[in-house]
Amino acid sequence: MSSLEALEQVREQALAELSRAATTEALAAWEKQVLGRQGSMTQQARQVGQLSPEDRPVFGRRVNEIKVLLQEAYDARLAQIRQIELSAQLETEKIDVTLPGRPVVPGHLHLTTQALRQLYRIFAYMGFEVYEAPDVELEAYNFDLLNIPEYHPARDMWDTFWVRGSEGDSRDRRLLRTHTSPGQIRVMRERYPEPIRVVLPGKCYRYEQITVRAEHQFYQLEGLAVGKGITITDLIGTITQFSHLYYGADRGVRVRSSYFPFTEPSVEVDTECILCQGKGCAVCKYTGWLEIAGAGMVHPVVLQNGGYDPDVWSGFAFGFGVERPAMQKYGVEDIRLFYGNDLRFLRQF
Ligand code: FA5
Repeated sequence: MSSLEALEQVREQALAELSRAATTEALAAWEKQVLGRQGSMTQQARQVGQLSPEDRPVFGRRVNEIKVLLQEAYDARLAQIRQIELSAQLETEKIDVTLPGRPVVPGHLHLTTQALRQLYRIFAYMGFEVYEAPDVELEAYNFDLLNIPEYHPARDMWDTFWVRGSEGDSRDRRLLRTHTSPGQIRVMRERYPEPIRVVLPGKCYRYEQITVRAEHQFYQLEGLAVGKGITITDLIGTITQFSHLYYGADRGVRVRSSYFPFTEPSVEVDTECILCQGKGCAVCKYTGWLEIAGAGMVHPVVLQNGGYDPDVWSGFAFGFGVERPAMQKYGVEDIRLFYGNDLRFLRQF
């Protein structure tokens, strides 16, 4: 077979293989095999040197013609295959642009924030302003200045998270406040000798067992009123008014005597349990009543620690939970739902 015949055979074979290549990958392999640096056409071109001087120009010209021809055939086949692949892709990944889009769901305030804002509104209506105190508190404010010295058994009422690395005495040691009452001292020291009517909201932290009615991190809303001639009837009137505005006038509220080192006398406030309609359930510990606040007349020692002379001034204080009253208002059966981040729960409010 002459060199020219062999060359034509390479052309024919290459064209036949090209028409069989059905994917872009197969086509790329073909290009490498035929037109690449080690490809069959390059090998043909290299043979020119071995031919007689007369045959060389004819053979060389034909090699170039075939190269151009094959390149054109390759380009045409590539365009064809790309079109086929695109059509197949459009068929399988079809998008119906007329379908309605997914609606964007706007977020909303968390139930606790809503409850806090409602409480602010009610107490603002009764003349209380909002005062914020720190979450990380000095032991002296959380305990000593509230008439709970070190080793006082009442410290057991509040299991405490201590801040590591804050040694020294109680004016240096830090903790996560166990209640919002330390804010009472802060506000008194700042406001003396003005009369005071504030609510102090904030998170509280207790190293205690989590149950359906108790979290280790929860909100309280403290209240403090200091003035001349304030009596316990003012406290009970304020709590009753609060209950009427928050729950409605037909919900039962009761005030029981209790003990707190920073109030004298002390009381606890219960509301009739809405979850069981007073019949008794796990949330109200089967009593039909749920404790929502501690309260009392500010202890003379605490007034003094705040800078107010107890012979001249008197006052009342209360500390409401925020989640528990909200549970009672909205019929939430488990306090853990507040911070479980379950959207099915949160979206209901
Ligand atoms: C106190 O924390 C006192 N500082 C309240 C107080 C303030 C009394 C001013 C007198 C004067 P107590 O530990 O009972 O008290 O908590 C008050 C309220 O916080 C409770 O009635 C309850 O509603 C809420 N509370 C307490 N512990 C938890 C808890 N673990 N989870 C959720 N709410 C709680």
